[in-house]
Amino acid sequence: MSESGGAVISELGALTSAAANAQEAGGRAPNARDAVRALRPSQIREVANAGFGVPDVLPFWFGESDQVTPQFIRDAASRALADGATFYTHNLGIAALREALADYVGKLHGATRPAEIAVTSAGVNALMLATQLVAGAGDRVVAVTPLWPNLVEIPKILGATVETVTLTYGPDGWTLDLERLLAALTPGTRMLMINSPNNPTGWVMTREQQQAVLDRCRQLGIWLVADEVYERLYYGDDAAVAPSFLDLATRDERVIAVNSFSKAWLMTGWRLGWIVAPERLMEDLGKLVEYNTSCAPSFVQMAGVAAVKDGGQFTQELVAGLRASRDYLVAALQRIPGIDVRAPAGSMYLFFRLPGADRSLELCKALVRESALGLAPGSAFGPEGEGFVRWCYACDTARLDAGVARLRAFMEAHPVS
Ligand SMILES: Cc1ncc(COP(=O)(O)O)c(C=O)c1O
Repeated sequence: MSESGGAVISELGALTSAAANAQEAGGRAPNARDAVRALRPSQIREVANAGFGVPDVLPFWFGESDQVTPQFIRDAASRALADGATFYTHNLGIAALREALADYVGKLHGATRPAEIAVTSAGVNALMLATQLVAGAGDRVVAVTPLWPNLVEIPKILGATVETVTLTYGPDGWTLDLERLLAALTPGTRMLMINSPNNPTGWVMTREQQQAVLDRCRQLGIWLVADEVYERLYYGDDAAVAPSFLDLATRDERVIAVNSFSKAWLMTGWRLGWIVAPERLMEDLGKLVEYNTSCAPSFVQMAGVAAVKDGGQFTQELVAGLRASRDYLVAALQRIPGIDVRAPAGSMYLFFRLPGADRSLELCKALVRESALGLAPGSAFGPEGEGFVRWCYACDTARLDAGVARLRAFMEAHPVS
């Protein structure tokens, strides 16, 4: 841009800021930007906050296991700290982790180079970075919902508008109307966000659907951001990993895959994730990492190397346990009259219909207050989630039993006509 062009723009910016400031000076309270004020607060948090202080509460509301991170990963972090891994690292991550991830991703999804990997401060930061890379003010973003709210809110922070295509619930559980999604991918669309396996529904996109969507995005030049943080929590008999856009796309097209250490290795509190993206994006991505977090903590990255290199067996056992918990909870809930629940193919949640959940936030608050049972309201995942509640089953069966008994007692005490 020419210097004079830059000057005009900064002058315009100054005028806009001046107008906003003048309004503030006119007596308005010191507020955040309108786009930030318009963000939806987390309804899961709202229920959890209502539950703090409730004795013996059973918290199935958040998306994490009740188990700590495996010992071999914690040991790797301790060793790294003892060795003095306390400094800044390269913006895109330490070489050892980028190499280990390239190898891991390559084995699951086809050849991937370290230069196509960026280490991030967990999945949510990866989503923010991916969105910052390709979408901005005024852009149209499409998302498939119900959906973990962060994916829908992040583009809005950047001034983009988000249009949703809703999964439908029927005898086969949650399914996608592919034609509706393809129709929503109009020439003006900048970015598509797909989370499969999906939080909250457990829906898993089929390979054929992925191919059709990828073809459409290719045809129209739409960026595809694939949130695949639950890819290993997959219960299909055909593979140990859910179908991924990385299986179909080459590494030099408009596909950005987001992933996390939180779910497959129980590392929620560590805040470590990664992005697979075209190498030509990496220089710009490095700048964004610099201005967001600068890098992930170095001893945490070293723990990540241990997880990726030595965690295969752990993840396999974790998923076998989750599958058993899923089946156990589905069977237990199906025995309660009025509950409509199905076993999903992925993730670690049941998203099911419950009498009275047409006001799911109020219902979940009552459940926690009166029965010390912590579930997430369906409406937390968009208006289309109303009528449902989400239950994270990453815990042992004794705890599930206790939760089911409380739910049954609550429903008997509050019959819905
Ligand atoms: C769909 C989805 N994407 C991304 C994340 C981010 O996880 P984290 O930031 O812990 O890596 C979550 C967490 O629950 C999630 O459900």
